[in-house]
Amino acid sequence: MKDDQTTMDKIVALCKRRGFIFQSSEIYGGIGGFWDYGPLGVELKRNIKEAWWRDMVTGHDITSVPPGAPSSFDMVGLDSTIIMHPHVWKASGHLDLFYDMFVDCKTCKARFRADQVSSSECPRKPSRRPGEHTECELTEPREFNTMFKTYVGALIDPEAEAYLRPETAQGTFTNFKNILSTSRVKVPFGIAQIGKSFRNEITPRNFIFRSREFEQMEMEFFCPPDSSQDWYAYWRDRRVAWYVSLGLRSEKLQLREHGPDERAHYSCGTADIEYAFPFLPEGEFGELEGVSHRGDFDLRSHMEGKLVREGDELVVETNEHGQPKYPGSGKDLSYFDDSTQSKYVPHVVEPAAGADRATLAFLCEAYDEDAIPDEKGVPQERVVLRLHPRLAPVKVAVFPLVKKDGQPETAAEIYRSLKTKWNAFYDEKGSIGKRYRRQDESGTPFCITVDHQTSEDETVTVRDRDTTEQQRVPMADLESYLAERLG
Ligand code: GAP
Repeated sequence: MKDDQTTMDKIVALCKRRGFIFQSSEIYGGIGGFWDYGPLGVELKRNIKEAWWRDMVTGHDITSVPPGAPSSFDMVGLDSTIIMHPHVWKASGHLDLFYDMFVDCKTCKARFRADQVSSSECPRKPSRRPGEHTECELTEPREFNTMFKTYVGALIDPEAEAYLRPETAQGTFTNFKNILSTSRVKVPFGIAQIGKSFRNEITPRNFIFRSREFEQMEMEFFCPPDSSQDWYAYWRDRRVAWYVSLGLRSEKLQLREHGPDERAHYSCGTADIEYAFPFLPEGEFGELEGVSHRGDFDLRSHMEGKLVREGDELVVETNEHGQPKYPGSGKDLSYFDDSTQSKYVPHVVEPAAGADRATLAFLCEAYDEDAIPDEKGVPQERVVLRLHPRLAPVKVAVFPLVKKDGQPETAAEIYRSLKTKWNAFYDEKGSIGKRYRRQDESGTPFCITVDHQTSEDETVTVRDRDTTEQQRVPMADLESYLAERLG
């Protein structure tokens, strides 16, 4: 098992060095909270999203009951827009409630999240917490809505105001009726969506952990109210198992149930799946995914208008005239259940994951350092990304040992044939040791080398990234050899 030598500095440096992740607009000095995914990063993130989509949607079997599930269920996908009708955010509660509390320092003009003052740094030197220098003058905490505002059309006036979505979920709720009436799904069923979300975070930090533009992988699961607690338990466990199946060690993960004071405005139960990210002190965990029991809050809000909690009840919030403060669509979003001949508003269980946080967790988990002998048997330190083969950006690299004796031609032929199945990489530059180490840092599970023996017996060496062991494999068997190991 690997020792924990992973630090954020090492992860950020590797991401830059190998072309996983760059700061957005870097040539202009960068822009806080925005990150670009380079050639390897885009493949890694796509593989994570694809693994999620396959697990949720394309791999889902509607004819059987998955282990631990209360029953079989339907599952479909959706891709809704980033900008939606502004009433969506009024009825959903985001316009009134989606804010962070911040404090400003009147002296140095820095802004801090109110809940992070005790872990933030004042920009003055020597390094201290905000408020600890004699010159510091902190304001009282104030509210800041973190939705990005924009304007639709040519006129910049309040009528044209719109927002970049802060979550993909609302596009799913507003399409509930469309999907119900066109897809032949029956409750219980889920709608999965992957897409960009935007939050004007006061203090984006910790690399891609908290950014202002990020991708979510959210699934809204619509179920009968009386079985919603069972579905909530099912999705919590299933989502933890997904991370473990792709390589996160269970001792680095925890499932933490929120207390009533910590829950979002819509939630009647939330559990965070948390990971021991290396930027946190030993023993602390950070949110990777939230699994929420949202009750009937969302569908009712979009029917009746923005809801507020009164005791145990959700009621429509009214203005001074007794009218709904933010009216809903007025459309009937309830469900008629043929089997029980009953009508109800389905409850929603939502596993909401971040593709960028998952990328960071898989990178941190995979990062390792060890020492391996070079061609002369001298131990050389190496950095290796022990990514799960399904997530590895490049699955196999193909090299000629030397650039002569027909080796490049044979290697290129192997590369071309493997490329029809997997993301393969060809490289003939530099010493073989350097080429191996470059692939180790990129997380490539296998390297194939064509050498002098290849022309004699039609075999090549296949080197395993994790053990560095090499095996001679007949060229004719390469595809089945890799298929067995890459899945
Ligand atoms: N629809 C529910 C919802 O959006 P959330 O806990 O606010 O819930 C879900 O977000 C997930 O989205 C988080 O667990 C995290 O993985 C990701 N996420 C949220 N804010 C983020 C940010 N500023 N940067 C990166 N990922 C973020």
